[in-house]
Amino acid sequence: MDYQKLIELAKDARKLAYTPYSHFPVGAALLTKDDKVYVGANIENASYPLCMCAERNAIYRSYLDGVRKDDIVAIVIVADTPNPCSPCGACRQVMSELLNKDTDVIMTNLNDNTQIVKVKDILPFAFSEEDLK
Ligand code: THU
Repeated sequence: MDYQKLIELAKDARKLAYTPYSHFPVGAALLTKDDKVYVGANIENASYPLCMCAERNAIYRSYLDGVRKDDIVAIVIVADTPNPCSPCGACRQVMSELLNKDTDVIMTNLNDNTQIVKVKDILPFAFSEEDLK
């Protein structure tokens, strides 16, 4: 699947966001090597710290379906931002463990202003399983 199609699926998923507090819906779409797509959107809660980001929902959904990092090609994050929507720090931490370092992170907005970066480039010096040894 080409990345533009994946972006459109992330935009569709964004419409499913539950954002009564921030009014800032975010969409995500994760692509696997066998062309499966797992979408996510942010889901908020009156207890604000319990809000869950779009991209983490997409990643966790894929893992629950048996997908693992070597199966993942790319993940899109899209929101109505002036610039390509950047994943938050918590999501970068999750990506650094659950996605490969060379996996594409496709940041975009509703106007298709897109920037593609690698997982390894968005969280230098990440805390990892190595630190637990
Ligand atoms: N949000 C995401 O879904 N992904 C990000 O990487 C940035 C932030 C959500 C969390 C919250 O529901 C809303 O955007 C405002 O921060």
